[in-house]
Formats: sequence, C-alpha cells, structure tokens
Amino acid sequence: MAARIEDPLVGVEPALAALVSGAAAAALEAGATIRSLYEQPHQVRFKGEIDLVTEADLASEKIIIARLNRAFPAVPVLAEESSPDYRQIPAGPVWIIDPLDGTTNFAHGFPVFAVSIAYSVDRLSLIGIIYCPLQDELFLAWRGGGAWLNGRRLAVSRRERLVESLVGTGFPYAIRENLDDVLAKLGKVLPRVRDLRRAGAAAVDLAYVACGRLDGFWERELKPWDTAAGYLLVEEAGGRVSDFGGGAWDPYRTEILASNAILHRKLVELLG
Ligand code: IPD
Ligand code: CA
Ligand code: CA
Repeated sequence: MAARIEDPLVGVEPALAALVSGAAAAALEAGATIRSLYEQPHQVRFKGEIDLVTEADLASEKIIIARLNRAFPAVPVLAEESSPDYRQIPAGPVWIIDPLDGTTNFAHGFPVFAVSIAYSVDRLSLIGIIYCPLQDELFLAWRGGGAWLNGRRLAVSRRERLVESLVGTGFPYAIRENLDDVLAKLGKVLPRVRDLRRAGAAAVDLAYVACGRLDGFWERELKPWDTAAGYLLVEEAGGRVSDFGGGAWDPYRTEILASNAILHRKLVELLG
C-alpha cells in the first residue's frame, strides 16, 4: 500500500519528498474519515441556498490542518472551511486545501468526491494531491516529477478529434447569475463532442483529465482550493491549462479550461 507513495518518490530530493509524502498521508487519513462517515446520517449546514457543508468537510479539514501544521509548522494554510477570503494570497509557500470537493455528491450519496491538497509558492503549485476515498485512488504530482495514480505514471489522452472526446464541466453555486453564460458554452460544446459529464467535483474532473478518462474540462467561478492540485496533475500528465481564451492561468483565476493539450485550441475556439 505504501508503495503507491514511496515508489514514485525514489530519488526525489528529500525535502520535496517529505512534503509530498506528508501531504499524501494527510489526504489518506482525511479520506478514511470521509469514507467512514459516508454511510452515516449527515449533519448538513447551509453556506448559501444550495451550498452545503457537512460534518465530513469539517472533520477532514481538521485532520489535514493538524497533520500539516505538525509536520510543517512554518507553512501557512488556505483551506476552504476556515479561510473564506482566498484573495489574501500569502507570499511564499502555502498549503491550499479542499477538505471535501464534491460535498453535494457526498450529502446525496453520489459516490464522486475527493480531498485536494496543493503546496503552492507565489501562485505556482509545486505539489498536487487528490484522493478519492471510495475508489481508493491517490493522485500525486509534483512539478517536474510527473503525475501518478496509485504509483502508476499518468498521461493525458491522445484524442485528436472533438467528436471522439468525452469532456467534463461543472456549474457554479451562483447558477442564476451565471446561467446564460453556462448554457451558451454548453450549447457550443455539446453538439461537437461525443458526450459530456457533470460529475460534481472539480478536483476529480481535473484528475480525470490527467489520467485520460476525460479529454477536457471547463468551469467558471471556481476557487483556488478546487483547482490548485488538479491543474498541476494535468500539466504534469502532459495536458494544458488556461483560461477560456487560452491565456495564462493560475489557481486564483476563477475560470479554467484543462485539456489533453491536443484539443486545447479547438476548445478555446468554442469557449473563448
Ligand atoms: C464544488 C465542486 C463542484 C463545482 C463547484 C465547486 P465543493 O466544490 O467542485 O463540482 O461545480 O463549483 O464549488 O463545494 O463540493 O467543495
Ligand atoms: Ca471544491
Ligand atoms: Ca469543498
């Protein structure tokens, strides 16, 4: 079991390896807690009309922050449930944490959700970890070190034709304010692709682009904790990440387009 973290890290510089394995251990522990809560009745609180937080979001965040603070006390944390103002971007290194991405899925018993942890320095993610507890899938990436799933090296898909592609998207909680744009973009992409998925967890969507299950993904109104780990997975697996117009991107940009790189220009033509 440990091999899925340790094998990819053979030969990696020890300080970096310690950050990767420390964060992966935190994701695995938090994921185990989420898994144990999944079949139980939930305590649900509302952050907005349709934006939920459950006991699992809070328990997961507590576990991750405690573990990371213990192991790396000098690194500050930007975490969804305890750092509402994500625009205060810390200078230097920071852990960017989504303790449970896909809360609506979790609360409804729809089995697609993940823990997402990134280690970023000045808007650039150096480490990305996404753990899907029900599938027991641990996605790891570090800058220059490739992307990995349970110890196996990942690559994005090689699909070249939109009509053969499976793409993903997501819908913002503020859907009424964004409905026209969301539907307009769906209307452009849907008739051009083989099919589209709205799986309900942006971090998982990005991990799925990295491993080739999806050929592309776009969404607007996202937060850094949704994307900071996933975009690095996509890039390290050979994919491309940008804004809808194909321009430069970082995790504090709220719109994201990720693809297998080959289809990027065609998706920009539809979305940009
Ligand atoms: C949400 C999920 C969802 C996406 C939303 C996100 P949460 O994150 O990633 O797929 O469409 O925009 O906010 O609230 O489940 O952590
Ligand atoms: Ca999220
Ligand atoms: Ca979340």
